[in-house]
Amino acid sequence: MASYTYETHEYDVVVIGAGGAGLRATLGMAEQGLRTACISKVFPTRSHTVAAQGGIAASLGNMGPDSWQWHMYDTVKGSDWLGDTDAMEYLAREAPKAVYELEHYGVPFSRTEEGKIYQRPFGGHTTEFGEGPPVQRTCAAADRTGHAILHTLYGQSLKQQAEFYIEYFALDLIMGEDGTCQGVVCWKLDDGTFHVFSAKMVVLATGGYGRAYFSATSAHTCTGDGGGMVARAGLPLQDMEFVQFHPTGIYGSGCLITEGARGEGGYLTNSQGERFMERYAPHYKDLAPRDYVSRCMTMEIREGRGVGKDGDHIHLHLNHLPAEALAERLPGISESAKIFAGVDVTKEPIPVLPTVHYNMGGIPTNYWGEALNPTAENPNAIVPGLMAVGEAGCASVHGANRLGSNSLIDLVVFGRAAAIRAGQVVDRTKGNPALNKAAIAKCFDRFDGLRYAQGGIPTADLRLEMQKTMQADAAVFRTAKTMAEGKDKMTAIAAKLGDLKVTDTSLVWNSDLMETLELTNLMPNALATIVGAEARKESRGAHAHEDFATRDDANWRVHTISRVDGNQVDLTYRPVVVDPLTTEVEGGISLAKIAPKARTF
Ligand code: FUM
Repeated sequence: MASYTYETHEYDVVVIGAGGAGLRATLGMAEQGLRTACISKVFPTRSHTVAAQGGIAASLGNMGPDSWQWHMYDTVKGSDWLGDTDAMEYLAREAPKAVYELEHYGVPFSRTEEGKIYQRPFGGHTTEFGEGPPVQRTCAAADRTGHAILHTLYGQSLKQQAEFYIEYFALDLIMGEDGTCQGVVCWKLDDGTFHVFSAKMVVLATGGYGRAYFSATSAHTCTGDGGGMVARAGLPLQDMEFVQFHPTGIYGSGCLITEGARGEGGYLTNSQGERFMERYAPHYKDLAPRDYVSRCMTMEIREGRGVGKDGDHIHLHLNHLPAEALAERLPGISESAKIFAGVDVTKEPIPVLPTVHYNMGGIPTNYWGEALNPTAENPNAIVPGLMAVGEAGCASVHGANRLGSNSLIDLVVFGRAAAIRAGQVVDRTKGNPALNKAAIAKCFDRFDGLRYAQGGIPTADLRLEMQKTMQADAAVFRTAKTMAEGKDKMTAIAAKLGDLKVTDTSLVWNSDLMETLELTNLMPNALATIVGAEARKESRGAHAHEDFATRDDANWRVHTISRVDGNQVDLTYRPVVVDPLTTEVEGGISLAKIAPKARTF
């Protein structure tokens, strides 16, 4: 048995991750006087939320008529009817409140002439329950909205005396014998010490796992650490097969060009200079939802109408827009286009390609952020002491496809909801439960095994094998053949985790070991993705199955629940929540309005 000494810390709540969801949860917890710690492997303002560009959706109606019911309808349709209706209602209803709170905390939103929060159009956001023109619903701070939110929330959290543990890497959850989450074991990266955090509530806000793919808009830190810890704790992941490809990653680097670019009037063209989206989506054109636009772009390329010498990408035009508008509304992407594509956006189109951007799946939760461990008898069974929010979680508001700018609002609405719920369920008068020492010992054994791993495969090589396989076999379009091959390959790749070679055994700033730990987190996420995808015999949202081209609500309007053990994945299914929180009579949305139908644009 490995022997490591550690320091113990006691809190009411420990939040793991300091992106938008983690910080909003931390702030809300601390505001209520809960003793709150926030643990992050990077400095909080370097979390991936900092890269969110275009904005945050809320039906403020600052630029024209809007309503939370329209926002909810668009989210339901965007999800391709896989989202949970209660959670989608909660999101759309609470969104304006959550945005005004951000404004009052100090987020420097862009402004209209009258001084109201500026809002821009984004894909899939419409009026009149999808019958009217696009709506301007996405509240923006130029094209650096995530940056503005993150800095504000960090400052506010410090003001509320939340305690930050920065550059601490969360190794594993401490689960009690009774299935309650009791805390987390961490490794402090800059001095090699170990820390055990005891908590009455642990909140996973660890973000997505975009780096399971070769090309992603996600930061290199997006390694699905929460999903990895949950899988090792014997808990499930949900709807992992739904991976969003953002239509406009810069060709080559994968760097994000915000959908706000099309919201401000940008458009896509093929090698014939044709605005092809007009053909596929006559009503919403370039502002159709992302899954749809990404598929159309891929079809253009496949049919020989891609641009560039290899005909393998598409052009995004902003060069017809006034230079002053670009400088005011889209300064960040103008700079990115220059740096990563050598393009002056006022003069030339940007070369773009659909690029992995977001994971709709994650740790299943209810709309309070409480983690679920569904059983046949109780599909909504809660894991005591554990929550998940943001991209790490799956509430599920995005279902099979997320609308642009519904991510930032998800972070703050559900970060806030988790804090409200924790305020109700965490008993401040009680002491923390005695920690499960066997779980802590098991965590150190695993750590030690990886630290001294002397197999035949360097971490970087195995990671690349995983990334290339996911990129090829769990792509925009999927076939039974590619997914079956992908499943076999990923099963073999995951087995190789037992043959890793780590060259650096030190404990201080050991990036070799940290990347190895990250790979052990990426792997169960990736495996659940390909296995869930191979099993789903329909097309829905981001899961475009060429052998089953249509949506099959009779058999597949269900959430995939995956339990990953080593290189094996066990799949079960959980019903989608179809009832909203309120009825039409109570001011809610009519059930007829949100009944499944064909998704056209
Ligand atoms: O295109 C974007 O600005 C990304 C926004 C989002 O993913 O919500």
